[in-house]
Amino acid sequence: MRISLVSWFIFSLFIATFFSMAALSVSGQCQRDQQQLLLGFKNSLNSSLSVKLGTWNQGTDCCSWDESIGNLDQLTWIVLWYCKFTGPIPKTLEKLTQLIYLDFSYNSFSGPLPSFTSLRNLTELILSGNQLNGSIHSTNWSSLPNLVILDLRRNSFSGNIPPTLFQSESLKAMDLAENQFSGGFGEVKGELSLQLEVIDLSHNGLEGQFPMFVFEIQGLQSLSLSWNKFSAVIPLSAFQKLKNLTTLDLSYNNLSIDSSFTNLPFPNVYELNLASCNLTRFPEFLKNLSLLQHLDLSNNQIHGQIPSWIWTPPLY
Ligand SMILES: *[C@@H]1O[C@H](CO)[C@@H](O)[C@H](O)[C@H]1NC(C)=O
Ligand SMILES: *[C@@H]1O[C@H](CO)[C@@H](O)[C@H](O)[C@H]1NC(C)=O
Ligand SMILES: *[C@@H]1O[C@H](CO)[C@@H](O)[C@H](O)[C@H]1NC(C)=O
Ligand SMILES: *[C@@H]1O[C@H](CO)[C@@H](O)[C@H](O)[C@H]1NC(C)=O
Ligand SMILES: *[C@@H]1O[C@H](CO)[C@@H](O)[C@H](O)[C@H]1NC(C)=O
Ligand SMILES: *[C@@H]1O[C@H](CO)[C@@H](O)[C@H](O)[C@H]1NC(C)=O
Ligand SMILES: *[C@@H]1O[C@H](CO)[C@@H](O)[C@H](O)[C@H]1NC(C)=O
Ligand SMILES: *[C@@H]1O[C@H](CO)[C@@H](O)[C@H](O)[C@H]1NC(C)=O
Repeated sequence: MRISLVSWFIFSLFIATFFSMAALSVSGQCQRDQQQLLLGFKNSLNSSLSVKLGTWNQGTDCCSWDESIGNLDQLTWIVLWYCKFTGPIPKTLEKLTQLIYLDFSYNSFSGPLPSFTSLRNLTELILSGNQLNGSIHSTNWSSLPNLVILDLRRNSFSGNIPPTLFQSESLKAMDLAENQFSGGFGEVKGELSLQLEVIDLSHNGLEGQFPMFVFEIQGLQSLSLSWNKFSAVIPLSAFQKLKNLTTLDLSYNNLSIDSSFTNLPFPNVYELNLASCNLTRFPEFLKNLSLLQHLDLSNNQIHGQIPSWIWTPPLY
């Protein structure tokens, strides 16, 4: 079966010389014919860029990028997702100080996270779906004042989650799910980031006292801390401040959600997962969740009959 080259592989290089910006985007797999095309492309480039990619030649597997990428020091935008890249992320990436957007998701990069500390203009860092490991402390997250999205999902990162991530003045979405992070949070000293809208730390080995400070991040829209080992008794009143919350997943920790105060308001979520939260009854607040589409209350201590109001639509 012949699959069109385009669907296998897209290479585009765009140079906005006016702003001395460059963007690089590669997607697909490195077959021999594609390698030819890629090298041909390189040779047709603005010569100074072509020279910069000098060591990227016939002998190099174009799916294991070498250190010459560090020569593209005007690069602002780089997307290399689903490319089957292997090996460590080149350390010379640290030289790409103009980078604004980096997406290396769904490759087979392995080894440690290089330091992104020098990439002060970075707004989105997307490394999900690789085999990166070790701690994420090589980067001083406080020195990335523009970082809006941090997506490290589905790697093998370990160690603790730097509390400074919760103090970023720019970060809106933090997805560190499906790794091997461990330890707890303790107190977050200093100001909390109130920009955060999405926090997903699910499927890790986090433990200790539940990070109650998340309930102070009032703009939160999505919170998932499921499949960790947090302990706490969480009063329903804790959720009151999170007025913009649309999805909540606290399943499978060591939590006890105390729903004994029945008339407290609850954010109008459309997805609610409170499996294994030691609930003893159907929370009354469900009556008011007019947007609810997805509900998981499995593995709790709820006995007896399902209340008939479950089947009646909310009053408003
Ligand atoms: C090639 O790129 C360099 C650096 O970005 C730029 O100064 C030069 O004008 C470009 N040349 C052409 C022909 O586009
Ligand atoms: C990066 O940010 C600095 C200021 O922090 C700015 O001078 C520079 O132009 C930015 N680079 C790009 C490519 O936006
Ligand atoms: C990371 O993975 C490599 C194998 O890919 C292994 O040799 C190394 O010990 C791992 N490092 C950590 C910190 O787990
Ligand atoms: C991290 O960056 C912040 C802000 O740039 C700085 O104040 C702090 O000293 C740095 N921390 C380390 C350990 O380098
Ligand atoms: C909640 O969302 C609204 C509408 O998007 C926004 O105006 C408001 O600032 C948000 N509240 C908080 C606490 O962020
Ligand atoms: C679970 O929480 C209870 C109290 O809430 C505590 O006594 C127990 O040690 C916790 N278990 C684990 C495995 O953390
Ligand atoms: C579950 O809740 C009951 C009271 O409703 C309490 O006695 C028990 O300790 C709770 N279990 C855990 C693991 O917190
Ligand atoms: C449900 O909404 C009604 C009407 O606004 C309010 O009186 C009641 O307290 C709410 N109940 C809960 C549990 O949120």
